[in-house]
Amino acid sequence: MTSTSLPRVSVVGLGKLGAPLAAVLASRGFTVIGLDVNKTLVDAMNAGKMPIVEPQLNELIAANKARLSATLDANEAIEKSDASFVIVPTPSDSTGFFSNRFVLQAMETLGKALRNKKGYHVVVITSTVMPGTTGSEIKAALEAASGRKVGADLGLCYNPEFIALGSVVRDMLYPDSILIGESDTKAGDMLQTIYLQMCEKKPPVQRMNFVNAELTKISVNTYVTTKISYANMLADLCDRLPGADVDVVTRALGADSRIGAKYLQGAMGYGGPCFPRDNVAFAALARKIGARADVAEATDRINNHQVERVTGLVAKLAKAGTRIALLGLSYKPHTPVVEESHSVKIATKLADTGYVVTVHDPLAQDAAIAVLGDKVVEASSLDSAVRGCDLLIVATGWPEYKAIDPAWCKRNGQHLTILDLWRTLPADKFSDVADLIYLGSGQS
Ligand SMILES: NC(=O)c1ccc[n+]([C@@H]2O[C@H](COP(=O)([O-])OP(=O)(O)OC[C@H]3O[C@@H](n4cnc5c(N)ncnc54)[C@H](O)[C@@H]3O)[C@@H](O)[C@H]2O)c1
Repeated sequence: MTSTSLPRVSVVGLGKLGAPLAAVLASRGFTVIGLDVNKTLVDAMNAGKMPIVEPQLNELIAANKARLSATLDANEAIEKSDASFVIVPTPSDSTGFFSNRFVLQAMETLGKALRNKKGYHVVVITSTVMPGTTGSEIKAALEAASGRKVGADLGLCYNPEFIALGSVVRDMLYPDSILIGESDTKAGDMLQTIYLQMCEKKPPVQRMNFVNAELTKISVNTYVTTKISYANMLADLCDRLPGADVDVVTRALGADSRIGAKYLQGAMGYGGPCFPRDNVAFAALARKIGARADVAEATDRINNHQVERVTGLVAKLAKAGTRIALLGLSYKPHTPVVEESHSVKIATKLADTGYVVTVHDPLAQDAAIAVLGDKVVEASSLDSAVRGCDLLIVATGWPEYKAIDPAWCKRNGQHLTILDLWRTLPADKFSDVADLIYLGSGQS
């Protein structure tokens, strides 16, 4: 298919998700225009280099500059596209619901611009929204601003992405499936055409009404986090049961095809911009409509307990005043994001309890120090952090930490304890180091 026969696309919101989507679409032959209210991001996209840390993102932007531009002007974005993906923030409000504030602002600007455009256009909501809102307040705002009715010449879809930060480009190119909530067949057909061209392998496409798609998105995330909390509940048991090893148990559990091995590693809680708020929103929705969400509530409670679980392990190993090096601050490897990071919460709690905490991260050190301030000491290097501590905690499973040199762990008669929360280090490498105790969490 040539780029001229493909629908032209605008991406509204050039953030952590929008910028990669624009780049991936351009790399697959689409002509793409980005729209953002932030001039820095618009200028950066036009200059071919975004200030967003995501593998392959800037390489794709540079390689596909000819088909990729950005603007602050909604009229230009609408005029130069046939479909608009809206990927603006939907922050949680005080009740746990996702706020549609930014989505509704975008409907207002896009709708006004649509008044000046002739011909069919599809608006695609990709931001995570509460079940029931695309077909009600979002549709109403778009219709009011555009003066058009959703139907013959205006399509509306709800189409969330299932990506993880650190692998957004790969996840967009190779999704397990595509989820489309559609106003009608014409709108869904255009979106399906876009995805079948964009994805490297033709994924199955699940098409449904808005509310089923909205509920599916939030259910996927609450189900996956339930597996994580289940594995962490097992790790807590294994910490206290002599001879137990959570990896042995979850490996056997995951081999059962009814359960599956993914997201079943007992370690730390889940963090980041999405997972922690999804169970809260799910439970808030259930309460509002008179249903129960005990599983989502328990998943959230178990997750919040992980900080206490780890600091409890530390209290058994070392007294206040001990020099601790905490390695890994991002909420997961391969991202600088520290939002809802359990490592940062653990560093805070340990520092507040009186431990002397030095922190290190390959990418997230600056972002973490912005939160932690002078409660902690910033490591100048991995090697100095390891050499200068009495207790080493590996809190995020960055592969870089596998390369820790056992020579850095020698203490000449003093003791060093390693608490490896994700069992990241090759434990065998450290077995010959004198005065060293290696402990994996979830292993007794
Ligand atoms: N980041 C993730 O891992 C992830 C995963 C799945 C879903 N989501 C969902 O995607 C949405 C966006 O998340 P993100 O992480 O990309 O957010 P982000 O904060 O990184 O980016 C949002 C962008 O939208 C822009 N924006 C705000 N209002 C706008 C408007 N009216 N018009 C044009 N641009 C506007 C902002 O300037 C910003 O650049 C959220 O609903 C989030 O829940 C995110």
